[in-house]
Amino acid sequence: MVKNIAVIEGDGIGAEIIGEAVKVLRKIEEKFGHTFHLKYVEMGGCAIDRYGVPLPAFSLEACQEADAVLLGAVGGPKWDDPTAKVRPEQGLLGLRAGLGCFANIRPAKVYTPLAAASPLKEEMIGGGFELVVVRELTGGIYFGESGRDGDSAYDTERYSVPEITRIAKVAFELARGRKKIVHSIDKANVLESSRLWRETVARTAREYPDITVIDMLVDNAAMQLVRNPAQFDVLLTSNLFGDILSDEASQITGSIGMLASASTGEGSRGLYEPIHGSAPDLAGRNIANPIAAILSAAMMLDLSFGMREEAYAVERAVDAALDENLRTADIATEGGTVLGTVQMGGEIVSRI
Ligand code: NAD
Ligand code: IPM
Ligand code: MN
Repeated sequence: MVKNIAVIEGDGIGAEIIGEAVKVLRKIEEKFGHTFHLKYVEMGGCAIDRYGVPLPAFSLEACQEADAVLLGAVGGPKWDDPTAKVRPEQGLLGLRAGLGCFANIRPAKVYTPLAAASPLKEEMIGGGFELVVVRELTGGIYFGESGRDGDSAYDTERYSVPEITRIAKVAFELARGRKKIVHSIDKANVLESSRLWRETVARTAREYPDITVIDMLVDNAAMQLVRNPAQFDVLLTSNLFGDILSDEASQITGSIGMLASASTGEGSRGLYEPIHGSAPDLAGRNIANPIAAILSAAMMLDLSFGMREEAYAVERAVDAALDENLRTADIATEGGTVLGTVQMGGEIVSRI
């Protein structure tokens, strides 16, 4: 197959981790006889420096024309001035909205050889569980009205019934192929938008009588995730709650450097990115974990290109490297060999 991929390295460790994901894609081309045309696209802080805006129109267009978008991360201290008119993160939000990618799928999987890298006791996670956060990505407080008013500032959480319905359907469909349980996370004891969320999720659930829906308040969910993560399988969340809970879930697996994500909408085009950020503390040091980026590329092969076997080959290569005690610094465990970003990427490629 021939596929066009827009590649956004972004800022910080973005170029380093995407470099390893691209090595993996090249190996897949060779092994399976595909052709991937990569188009490098500027977005984030680097685009602000060059063009004064985080997402120039031609960058968005290049992504809209591609079959899929692979993204590293954006942002960093250089662009963090709170009074700045433009921010790298605005580019990311514009891209997600501009691609119509409203459903963000974030699997958090505990790899058995990494159980010791988790801060939780091994008996709580030893069974190798996996949960998945289904996060609404183009609405809520990220996109509501915001501004300054004298000496106050405001952000608005607003959700509509269609927005909630379509993301709930994604979670229910996913749950059908899994354990058939969805925890819907909200703050319905306080927020009106959460009461609409809960009501709409319940109404949508009537079309899925085989799925058990458990409503859970977000503060309790944050606690339950570290108390007994195995109770969860699919977590359905708003944009903000999913952002926070997926970082929390990542740590259960050992490191945020392990978590990939897929963002999809109508059609097969998707946006694939690690859940972590640009990790300015690691940038340029060849120590960042490239696995989240590599697994994001695997999700792209599977979900946008229908290349299930190819995606599986990548996942198996990651499993094999971890089984053979190869580690980056963030997932170091006793007896493991700690490798740099490039070396870990190379070891994974050689196992495909
Ligand atoms: P971060 O995810 O960049 O880093 C949090 C912690 O996790 C740091 O200690 C970092 O060293 C570690 N970490 C992250 N990725 C890692 C990897 N691959 N391997 C090993 N360790 C890793 O979050 P932050 O520090 O809060 O944010 C830094 C910048 O990134 C901010 O500007 C933020 O807005 C941006 N950000 C961007 C994205 C994105 O582009 N999708 C996501 C999150 C944060
Ligand atoms: C993420 C990030 C982004 C988000 C930021 C950088 C806008 O934290 O992808 O998780 O909050 O969605
Ligand atoms: Mn986040």
